[in-house]
Amino acid sequence: MKYKALVAKYLAETLNLDAQMVEGNLETPPQEDMGDFALPCFRMAKELRKAPQKIAEDFANQLTELPEYISDIKNAGAYVNVFLNRALYCQDFVGEALAIGEQFAHTGIGEGKTILVEYSSPNIAKPFHVGHAFSTIIGDVLAKMYQHQGYNVVRLNHLGDYGTQFGKLIVAYELWGDEEKLTSDPIGELLRIYVRFHKEAELRPELDLEARARFKALEEGGANEYRLWQRFRDLSLKEFESVYKRLGVHFDSYNGESFYSDKIPAVVKELEEKGLLETSEGARVVKLDELDLPPCIVLKSDGSTIYATRDLAAAAYRYETYNFDKCIYVVGLPQNLHFKQVFAVLAKAGHNWAKNLVHVGFGLVKFPGDRKFSTRSGDVIYLEDLLNEAVSKTREIIVANNNGREVPMSEEEINETAEAIGLGAVRYTFIRSGRERDIVFEWEDILDFEGDSAPYMQYAFARAHSILRRSGVTPEEAMQLSPAGLGSDSEFALCREMAQLNIALQQATDNNEPSILARQVMTVCRAFSRFYNQMPILQADNIQQREARLALCAAFVSVLQTTLGILGIRTVERM
Ligand code: ARG
Repeated sequence: MKYKALVAKYLAETLNLDAQMVEGNLETPPQEDMGDFALPCFRMAKELRKAPQKIAEDFANQLTELPEYISDIKNAGAYVNVFLNRALYCQDFVGEALAIGEQFAHTGIGEGKTILVEYSSPNIAKPFHVGHAFSTIIGDVLAKMYQHQGYNVVRLNHLGDYGTQFGKLIVAYELWGDEEKLTSDPIGELLRIYVRFHKEAELRPELDLEARARFKALEEGGANEYRLWQRFRDLSLKEFESVYKRLGVHFDSYNGESFYSDKIPAVVKELEEKGLLETSEGARVVKLDELDLPPCIVLKSDGSTIYATRDLAAAAYRYETYNFDKCIYVVGLPQNLHFKQVFAVLAKAGHNWAKNLVHVGFGLVKFPGDRKFSTRSGDVIYLEDLLNEAVSKTREIIVANNNGREVPMSEEEINETAEAIGLGAVRYTFIRSGRERDIVFEWEDILDFEGDSAPYMQYAFARAHSILRRSGVTPEEAMQLSPAGLGSDSEFALCREMAQLNIALQQATDNNEPSILARQVMTVCRAFSRFYNQMPILQADNIQQREARLALCAAFVSVLQTTLGILGIRTVERM
């Protein structure tokens, strides 16, 4: 759909203006009666030595011979308003959408480029809580958006599988661990002993010393420590993977913090050689005063490494391994300073690629009453429990509606539908607003089938699908339907909103902001509902209209399938 470019070309040629300048200035007016594109003339006043209103008026008078795709041109104030030939526009759009199918909004802009998306990255032996869902879902959608644009996407999970807390866990497990519980509910058991460790260490500080010693032993390859650590890691990962599977999320690599520990000496050596390391209170640090950042600690005074050191090593390893064009870190906003420091150290070390590291931050997940999460107190909400609750609440709604159905759903269909809708509802909650904003989880909102929710969109899809089913047109036939004769307000609006998805995907990718795409998909669904409510489809006045509206439904189904797919929201044929 190159209408903007076409309009710009026509205006430029007829008015003797620069086509690029015109295209850059063309606006989409806020109101329908102002046309479909508007050229503001304020900026040309100086050069043309005329009042903007006069310029617009003169322009409009020159634009008399209209090309086929423009139906009218009007002057209003300092604007030239362009009205498209709606029938032609709709016909073009629907025809193209049906022909390209899942290639819709595929620009190929990323062809030949590699992008690394690091996301989820939970900590071993800690619950996978709703905060991790934020990173997991945003990261998954970003990866899918980039993939749809043709990028080679590598999905990384930087597991938190290293650090002094493993010393604590080893001590705690030897003191209070329950073998049986560790097998049946690994993270629950690890959490229980971790919480206990913190309580007891308040009274017996020697426990902390012991933990530190055991972590040091782990770092030095102690067999006992290593065996326990490996076990905690394997069991935790298994639990994480079952959540990933359910969410439809996967990773190409689970190289976590521990993976980089033997790559650290090389990093330290490099920084040393480049003269960047300084001693400060016994620690080895890189000063970042010139950037107004606190120094980045590389080695603690006892010579051990920290979180940041492992990130330095990880970034270098990733660059060597993947030669990326961009590496994105989907991690909560509180870690913004950490990433600034890490990226700055790498830049200071002369790595040109450091400018292609991007921290994509996000806000907090809150529940009404302003409760936050903290692992230490043991007061967390597991993502799994949240998903189960969403699915069971959805199931109740579906079951309640089931009796009124012509053909009731089988038990199996009910379960599958509830899973798709419940998970979609949770997923959309994480992407519907700008990612830096905090989210408040309210069930009434999330599962409001008429509100700003995934079920609303899934319902629009199911309705369109049902019309096609009832029309007796097969999916193959639907592809061949003629879209000629569309063009009413609601039909045109639906086509225009669908065409905007292209731009939304582009902007969403440029800003690493899935909400831009999510919002536009929602707008498309609202436009569909308006069309559906205003235009008789199966009962259309004549056969040509019926066919064209069915074609529009088919285009909507196809476009929605593709774009909800990018958002990771599953579709159902009825609900
Ligand atoms: N494991 C960390 C956490 O849960 C997140 C890791 C983020 N990624 C990174 N490269 N530092 O807080």
